[in-house]
Amino acid sequence: MKIILVVGARPNFMKVATVYKAFKKNYPLVNVKICHTGQHYDAKMSHIFFNDLEMPQPDFYLGVGSGSHAVQTANIMIEFEKVCLEEKPDVVLVSGDVNSTIACGLVAAKLQIKLGHIESGLRSFDRKMPEEINRILTDCISDYLFVTEKSGLENLKNEGIPQEKIFFTGNCMIDSLIDFLPKAQNSEIKQKLGINEKYILLTFHRPSNVDNREFYNGFQKLIQRYSNNFKFVFPIHPRTRKNLETFGINISNYPNLILTEPLGYIDFLRLIKDSFCVITDSGGIQEETTYLGIPCVTIRENTERPITVEVGTNYLAGTDFNNVFNIVDDIINNNAKKGKIPFLWDGKAGERVAKIIIEKFNNHNN
Ligand code: UD1
Repeated sequence: MKIILVVGARPNFMKVATVYKAFKKNYPLVNVKICHTGQHYDAKMSHIFFNDLEMPQPDFYLGVGSGSHAVQTANIMIEFEKVCLEEKPDVVLVSGDVNSTIACGLVAAKLQIKLGHIESGLRSFDRKMPEEINRILTDCISDYLFVTEKSGLENLKNEGIPQEKIFFTGNCMIDSLIDFLPKAQNSEIKQKLGINEKYILLTFHRPSNVDNREFYNGFQKLIQRYSNNFKFVFPIHPRTRKNLETFGINISNYPNLILTEPLGYIDFLRLIKDSFCVITDSGGIQEETTYLGIPCVTIRENTERPITVEVGTNYLAGTDFNNVFNIVDDIINNNAKKGKIPFLWDGKAGERVAKIIIEKFNNHNN
């Protein structure tokens, strides 16, 4: 049996690593290959994650890089089709909601290769997000849909996906978190950045925020409002860095705002774990903070991960910074909600995914 695991952009690496390891550990005879599309190509957005997650180098690197959505998606398809035609895998596994996910999913489905989708069923119900389009379409063409939270089950059912394709396996990204938390404890990132006191961790990369000049007014008010009491740590995503330059906004002069390049997985985990709270527009960080019990304020109008708000420590603040301030004030006044860890976020999701793929493959071929 041959499987190709696809990765492309930063959030894919930690979801796929655990499935790769589960195959290696429990089914060593399965031929598992890794294909990196090259959607993210900077060392700090990509290569560092292979080291941090103790993954081998990819077997195929498509080197596709940036472009408009159409160009990026099309180029990935052209290159990935060549890999599939040459390798003839039995199963292609994609994860999450990035352009690499739908591009490689489409290639596999049209070549009639079985397609598995890790982190299936999440919905923001906001089709202005490119990720929402990618999620819906990937789920539509997948044969095995691996779901992280109960909302995913309901969404897929409502979309008419046959029940026998849907598997509630838990959260593969949380598997990686659990695996690497001890290592993160030894990270020296706090010394490197000179942090000894309470800090708030910031990440912003969502186009609806960072492509909008207004957003940076709120951002600067946020820093001014709390920087007497807190340090801020802000690893800057390439998209955000480019926009700051384009808009001519200089944020390098705030004494308590520590700016860094994007960080590796281990260093970033350490920073989440020790933070006072996280303010973000990321998807995955809403889940990581929920697992770690760290308050998370999400600057978005919606979330495709409602369990993090219902059960976890996440607050959906919307994009009005006055709301963000109210929530942060509440957290400072010791009113942060006490979250719980969602069902099946137990470090075993990757093993469940691997087991199901093996069973399905065996049933299909007997
Ligand atoms: C992509 C995903 C998003 C995910 C995010 C995580 C899609 C549609 N979006 O968004 O869901 O949350 O990754 O980071 O797939 N760039 C670099 N170096 C890199 C990669 C990108 O400089 O290694 C620059 C590109 O030139 C581009 C910008 O960053 O201008 C955005 O990159 P892109 O891959 O298009 O999307 P992201 O915003 O990273």
